Amino acid sequence: MTNRVELRKVSKSFGDVQALQDINFSLGENEVVGLLGDNGAGKSTLIKIITGYYQPDQGDMFINGQQVDEFSVPKAREMGIETVYQERALAELQSLWRNIFLGRELKNRFGLLKIKEMKQETHRLMTQSMGFTSSAVNPDSAVGTFSGGEKQGVAIVRALYFDADIIILDEPTMGLSLKETRRLLDFVRSIKDAGKAAIFIDHNIFHVYSVADRVVVIDRGKVAGEFMTKDISLDDLMDKMYRVAETGVL
Ligand SMILES: Nc1ncnc2c1ncn2[C@@H]1O[C@H](COP(=O)(O)OP(=O)(O)O)[C@@H](O)[C@H]1O
Ligand SMILES: [Mg+2]
Repeated sequence: MTNRVELRKVSKSFGDVQALQDINFSLGENEVVGLLGDNGAGKSTLIKIITGYYQPDQGDMFINGQQVDEFSVPKAREMGIETVYQERALAELQSLWRNIFLGRELKNRFGLLKIKEMKQETHRLMTQSMGFTSSAVNPDSAVGTFSGGEKQGVAIVRALYFDADIIILDEPTMGLSLKETRRLLDFVRSIKDAGKAAIFIDHNIFHVYSVADRVVVIDRGKVAGEFMTKDISLDDLMDKMYRVAETGVL
């Protein structure tokens, strides 16, 4: 079975800051991997490399077994990598359907936007796939008026609609209510059930533990260790995280 993502000895610096150093990382075909680590550990940098937002300084990257270089955000999308952005990444003033189709508008053969189709599809996705019933969530409403969970739903619908195989969630529960958080965690589980793969980052170790098959701990730009969640209790994982924060080793 080919890994969806594989990084070999990937490094990345920003000026004097070595954000990542010799990172080896893999994501299996139908696996949810949680990334844990303190603020500044390098988690977001790692996923920004996988989403084509940053180029690594060194190292090799493989997507679906194929080596990639000169990777970019459009290329990553073409290869089925979708990011569920933190809510503020949405175009707040734009309508829901615009946000869903941003950068990938449906067009007819004359290059004109198929607005009606995009609105219909948006409505279908929000109600059928996401179970949103609020009348405020209609294709024409501005996303800026949505609740945190509704905004997150928009990002999720984007990932589902574009049929990504690799879905990346960087702190998606930030600012969500308890109920919205539960819905989000259910969504991550449904990624797994749909046979897809995900990388999940969250400050809350309990969230990560409850959805991930495997947890990779990043500390100061390096992989400090990894665990299959089925092989470790939440208490033990928490103890190890404290130890890493203090000593840099697991
Ligand atoms: N664009 C950037 N320019 C300069 N430094 C950055 C940039 N992005 C991240 N860093 C630095 O790289 C390190 C890792 O950051 P980041 O990957 O965001 O960590 P995490 O997501 O684990 O909190 C931090 O020291 C951060 O300040
Ligand atoms: Mg981060």
